[in-house]
Amino acid sequence: MRRGSAVRIALVGVAVGIVTSLFAVLIPWLPTSASEEMDRITFTFWFATVICIAIFALVSAVILYSVVAFRVRPDDDTDGPPIHGHTGLEIVWTAIPAVLVTAISIVSAVVLARNDDAGANPLKVAVSAQQFAWSFKYPGADGPLSGKLVLPIHQPTELSLTALDVIHAFWVPEFGQKQDAVPGITTRLVITPKRLGTFPVVCTELCGLGHSTMRSEAIVLSRADYDKWLAKQKAGATPQANGGASVFEAQGCGSCHTFAAAGSNGQVGPSLDTLAAAAKRAGTSLEAYVRESIVQPDAYLAAGFQGGVMPKNYADLPKAQLDQLVAYLATSGKAAE
Ligand code: CUA
Repeated sequence: MRRGSAVRIALVGVAVGIVTSLFAVLIPWLPTSASEEMDRITFTFWFATVICIAIFALVSAVILYSVVAFRVRPDDDTDGPPIHGHTGLEIVWTAIPAVLVTAISIVSAVVLARNDDAGANPLKVAVSAQQFAWSFKYPGADGPLSGKLVLPIHQPTELSLTALDVIHAFWVPEFGQKQDAVPGITTRLVITPKRLGTFPVVCTELCGLGHSTMRSEAIVLSRADYDKWLAKQKAGATPQANGGASVFEAQGCGSCHTFAAAGSNGQVGPSLDTLAAAAKRAGTSLEAYVRESIVQPDAYLAAGFQGGVMPKNYADLPKAQLDQLVAYLATSGKAAE
């Protein structure tokens, strides 16, 4: 090949490389990381992307150059030269991709192994998914059951996930990983948060009508704030500062139920604005009706709604919080009468 050709191919390659790199860098493809696992995943992503850009630029340069330099001239009816392969070239274009793919495999395997390692003393949280809510159980007999995933920063945390009805999947984009929650088996996921803040917990497996509402929050706190939160929850007894409204909010009731007092408009379950009338129809007191419907969701079924949809684990709410929630729903139910 003439020297001039090589220079031209190199120039085209550099131009393609720059344009492609701008696409890679200027568009925010990934959310800003909030965990050490996500950092490693981001590294793997860029490791593979840089290799892809280099190969793409090289291949594009050779193709673009060839299209222009070897295009057929007017009135040129001759055959091309009879070329029969090029052993040296074939060895090169087999060996280089083999090395690159092996490098990507090794980097990915190391990242997977490290992301799977919760260390000697992880915080263990049991995650339970059901249509259409998440619940998070903290360790110990007095460990709280929370509708939100509250985590201390820099603490390796091991989630063990399961589902009570159909397959769901746990995803916090800023933590960079997804894991299925499957009935009958337990899956695990390690998270080491590195950034304070509130991040969305998203169900990322189509699981029914309320799939898109199956969201919660992951809240990363400083160690001191986390300890405070935990102590407060453990006191359990300690009613929520804001009364039943806080319990309603913390347990995510509004994602399935319409309730004017809370400004929620969920459609998965029956409206909570007509509880007084429903209690009357059931022939029981409003408080008793509300309490029964929380701890035994299928005891009374509202017209047009199926049993087995509402999670049954609200029976595990600390009694003080359950009392607050009942009072909150009953009072507002009376007001609506
Ligand atoms: Cu649970 Cu989608």
